[in-house]
Amino acid sequence: MTTYVTTPIYYVNAMPHLGHAYTTIVTDAYSRFKRLCGDDVRFQTGTDEHGEKIAEAAAKAGETPRQYVDRIAATFKETWPLLSIRQDYTIRTTDPDHIQTVQDILQVVHDRGDIYFSEYSGLYCQGCERFLTEKELVDGKCPDHLVEPKAISEQNYFFRMSKYQDWLIDHIQTHPEFITPERYRNEVLSFLSEPLEDLCISRPTSRLTWGIPLPFDNKFVTYVWFDALINYLTGIGYPDGADFAMYWAAAEHVIAKDILKPHAIYWPTMIRALGLEPFQRLHVHGYWNVDATKMSKSLGNVVRPKELVDTYGVDTVRYFLLREMSFGLDSSFSADAILARHNADLANDLGNLFSRSLTMIDKYADGRIPECCAGFLFTPEDQELMSAMASMVAQYREYMENFRFHKALQAIWEVISLLNRYIVGNAPWELAKDARHGDRLKMVLYHLAEALWMIALVLKPIMPGTAEKMASALGLQKQFADAGIDAVGQWGEVPSGTVIDKGAQLFPRVEKKAGVPAAPSAGQPLVPGKPEANIGEGLITFDQFKDVELRVAEIVAAEKVAKSEKLLKLTVKAPEKRTIVAGIALHYTPEALIGQKVIIVANLKPAKLMGILSHGMVLAAKEQQADGSERLVLATVAAPIASGSRVA
Ligand code: MSP
Repeated sequence: MTTYVTTPIYYVNAMPHLGHAYTTIVTDAYSRFKRLCGDDVRFQTGTDEHGEKIAEAAAKAGETPRQYVDRIAATFKETWPLLSIRQDYTIRTTDPDHIQTVQDILQVVHDRGDIYFSEYSGLYCQGCERFLTEKELVDGKCPDHLVEPKAISEQNYFFRMSKYQDWLIDHIQTHPEFITPERYRNEVLSFLSEPLEDLCISRPTSRLTWGIPLPFDNKFVTYVWFDALINYLTGIGYPDGADFAMYWAAAEHVIAKDILKPHAIYWPTMIRALGLEPFQRLHVHGYWNVDATKMSKSLGNVVRPKELVDTYGVDTVRYFLLREMSFGLDSSFSADAILARHNADLANDLGNLFSRSLTMIDKYADGRIPECCAGFLFTPEDQELMSAMASMVAQYREYMENFRFHKALQAIWEVISLLNRYIVGNAPWELAKDARHGDRLKMVLYHLAEALWMIALVLKPIMPGTAEKMASALGLQKQFADAGIDAVGQWGEVPSGTVIDKGAQLFPRVEKKAGVPAAPSAGQPLVPGKPEANIGEGLITFDQFKDVELRVAEIVAAEKVAKSEKLLKLTVKAPEKRTIVAGIALHYTPEALIGQKVIIVANLKPAKLMGILSHGMVLAAKEQQADGSERLVLATVAAPIASGSRVA
């Protein structure tokens, strides 16, 4: 089987940021997953370097467009290895072969009668680099760029997109996987329920010269989107290249929702006009916000991939982005959230399991993977582990195949929890005390080693460095390069006697940096069912604890905070009356709170939230739900007690 998967080609008018990193990591993880499944994979990314936006950015930087695009395209290319991204090809729309392909395609479409010359008046948004319809405007402005589009009237060339409307609707309806998740498919179908206009595909050179000249009229350059989309063909050598013959039929594109229309409407109709079969699947994800706010240069909250990698390590960044976002929906990035995932999921759950297991193999089996004891009866615990692994890998394949990365990771982490329970249930340290249990001890340790090997394999697409480190520590680095997904669930294959390296630490904990503000609701979740995993690191002294003044407080009034989804304004008695703003509106109605006795931090410096001064903080427990959401439950007292009582 072959796989051809692409990212959008990024505009070079901005430096790489979290959003670019996410799409490219997703595409990389998918391509690595397909390789693990034995596919012949081609993964392409690149940069979009023509058009008004770029010409303007170059002028602003005081450079020629050529100097400018060379400089920024290089920054993108240099960013990818930092994120462990291994693309097969990096295309630039200023590459000579791309320019030639665009011109050849324009000529073909023109010769077939699908390009014509006409006068056009429309509302043009420069940010989008396209004409917007009246319907797309919100309060007369482009909803993405918040500016009024310019009324422009000029003569231009047009692509007969409308001719392919019925075909496109039919194609989308008969191919449910063509645009996913479904919400975006519905969005496109709803857009297509109105008549489609033809697409203006040229810009007069009087207005713009930084573009590919039309082959049949050099007074015009090609509209940047018509130029850009063709990258997906140029990169594999359309029309005669061997790679084109090999990969086009498998094409899949990954994008965010901002560029749905060009990919779901312009692109398939362009391909159709060329007489080609359309791509197979378009995967559309949501937007990353930062601390629940839109990421923007003017707000100064743009997250740069390099800084993230320097702080948390590349695999934590990859894991976090894939685990935290439900593909298709928006997500919010925060320093607290990535830190919590690093310390809880990676350092505690996976890291501790791994180092505990290796330490036990070192101690109880002389640092070698013990014999697998073929012929012994499996206990119910062994069987549970085996069936959990089998169902995990089946789910993992299904989820990875369908871009539900957070679900795939949840499935892996369920097995990680089970393995932690397997260790506690089998208590190898007890087995080691009695020589009669020697064979059982070997079997438990063998199962641990092979389960960790399997986990390394499924993590390979997500955290390639960590997975390799795990395989090396298990002494299985040679097998690692060639092993495929089918090795997961094949028990008894790991060679006994393999020398392990117990020294490997996968994820050193990252402590919160001074000066990084904590979001009011964020805290590090503890690890359920694993008390020992939560003890020992990040300990505080009793004196430090004493500094926090916890009190029982009775809620006497509660109301919603205007313009906020999450905040409630509470009046509490502790015993004096005070106002506390709490982020619990999604979990409690104001009425349900009256009369409740909760626990507050009484000596917190007052802070202003949505203009209201909050004197303290209400404590609540946070539970992660299977669907990725969170449930909050207020901490209260078990029996009636006077308001203001100290909690210690
Ligand atoms: N050049 C066009 C794409 C042409 S593809 C033939 C373009 N470039 S872009 O630089 O603006 O990149 C847009 C893409 O960057 C999004 O579709 C998404 O992949 C990624 N992201 C940019 N900001 C993002 C977020 N805040 N969140 C998630 N991804 C976003 O459009």
